[in-house]
Amino acid sequence: MCGIVGYIGSEQAKEILLKGLERLEYRGYDSAGIALMDANGVKVYKEKGRIEALRGVVADDAVGATGIGHTRWATHGVPSHANAHPHQSESGRFTLVHNGVIENYQELKTEHLMDVGMTSDTDTEIIVQIVEQFTKQGLEAEEAFRKTLGLLKGSFALALLDNETPGRILVAKQKSPLLVGLGEHGNVVASDAMATLALTDQYVEIMDGEVVVLTENAAHISALDGTPVSREPYTAELDAADIEKGTYPHFMLKEIDEQPLVMRRIIQQYKDESGKLKVDEGVRQAVKAADRLYIIACGTSWHAGLVGKQFLETIAGVPTEVHIASEFSYNMPLLSERPLFVFISQSGETADCRSVLVDVKQLGHPTLTITNSPGSTLSREADHTLLLHAGPEIAVASTKAYTAQIAVLSILSVDVANGKGRTLTFDPLQELAIVANAMEVLCAQKDDYEQIARDYLSETRNAFFIGRAVDYYVVMEAALKLKEISYIQAEGFAGGELKHGTIALIEDGTPVFGLITQEHVAGHLRGNLQEVAARGANTCAIVSHDQARPGDQHVLPEVHPHFSPLASVIPFQLIAYYAALHRGCDVDKPRNLAKSVTVE
Ligand code: F6R
Repeated sequence: MCGIVGYIGSEQAKEILLKGLERLEYRGYDSAGIALMDANGVKVYKEKGRIEALRGVVADDAVGATGIGHTRWATHGVPSHANAHPHQSESGRFTLVHNGVIENYQELKTEHLMDVGMTSDTDTEIIVQIVEQFTKQGLEAEEAFRKTLGLLKGSFALALLDNETPGRILVAKQKSPLLVGLGEHGNVVASDAMATLALTDQYVEIMDGEVVVLTENAAHISALDGTPVSREPYTAELDAADIEKGTYPHFMLKEIDEQPLVMRRIIQQYKDESGKLKVDEGVRQAVKAADRLYIIACGTSWHAGLVGKQFLETIAGVPTEVHIASEFSYNMPLLSERPLFVFISQSGETADCRSVLVDVKQLGHPTLTITNSPGSTLSREADHTLLLHAGPEIAVASTKAYTAQIAVLSILSVDVANGKGRTLTFDPLQELAIVANAMEVLCAQKDDYEQIARDYLSETRNAFFIGRAVDYYVVMEAALKLKEISYIQAEGFAGGELKHGTIALIEDGTPVFGLITQEHVAGHLRGNLQEVAARGANTCAIVSHDQARPGDQHVLPEVHPHFSPLASVIPFQLIAYYAALHRGCDVDKPRNLAKSVTVE
């Protein structure tokens, strides 16, 4: 949800910023801009649209060894040149980029900026204008910045340039992610280390309420009141290859193909010396102490949570509820006596989840985050973390993080079951290894799924996905995948529920995909497919090995029924990918979306 990058050093900043923004484009791509500072002052370049469009307006001879950049996901003000960052103060002295939302910007504008002509509709511009107003009242720039920060309500990650003190970038954050990186030829600031990995792997976390004065050779961190803070850098464990597409046309396809590898990595990461699957002792104790788990998540991660509930209840016997984060705090259910809150979030930055985390911590409840991002806000603020080890997920549509979430939830369930002395009728380690092989088989069948996408989805306006029991949760994810990247209106339904209303939408040729992997509901789901076929639907059944009947065309490789979601989602990921591709959509960066949703 907006990405920030900044550089100060001995090299030219232009390419560093543009390349950094390309890496951050997953965070939003409505408009982009950079500001470059040299001895003659600051020059701002910005453009509506993607970084590619920005490249078209940045002068070839643009120079400056200090600069800041921004890629935007619009919140306040439409995507436009005027609303693109960086924003400048009235005199042009200060230049700012911002990620987040200033909730009290109208009040601040009324109080401090009645006589200032604003040039944008953004909440950001008030920050840079207020800093300038404070300097006009006699404050030094850093003091003015600190005073302004004290007024802001909401979330922000900020990088500020001052024409009059050129050797530094002023940086601060509150709730939005921001890191400082220490390089050999200069220092950087970025929303995500991915943006600046080419320059350094040494990063320092910035905490809420801190200010950093970033210079070519140092990063001076202090609390808002000026008290110095000392913090050691850590090494970002990111492989440059992880953030490249390599020979793939899209990150999404690469990430779909990485799933077998991710499964094997997860098995390794969660195995103890005796070869048994195991989670951290603290997590185990937290689950043991709880009388009910409350899974809190959004979108695809919520879908993974629904599958996780199935594991936790059937394998581990732990009562579990799954809630949409954006609803939970405003519509809280009656809680059990000893709840444990489990946040599932690929990015670890989702504002809807964080808001629940803050609320339940205030109520004194224990918390666990399951995330792909070590050091993310949700990971830092929860009592415990389980990592997904999926590697960076760059395509906006989540694929490998979803299956990683399910795999980690299955391991948690197995561990809890072992701790309770429950007898398992399967060897989880072996079954997960079989899943990894099955995923490989499915990924090798791309041509089949491309053909399904052609046959069923090239022309259609809408599509339905039906399943029962755990397959229902998988088809919800299948529908989300299709709609978010191909813009085909798609819904995932419980097979038995269609006839209670939605079946009215079935017309001649409407595509209906059915997923059949669970023995106890297989016959019913086949019946539901017959019902829609009788009304003209173009049906396609994807069937597990053990439920296959003669004539079934799309049969999944054999996996244990408990683990079937890990395999059965892959055909749907591929079908969505090819449907979007054939319809000419931007697969990795679908319209209106961003990867990391840091606004509520
Ligand atoms: C869909 C998708 C989103 C995310 C959701 C939560 O493909 O990626 O629905 O799952 O925005 O994001 P995280 O998991 O980062 O909290």
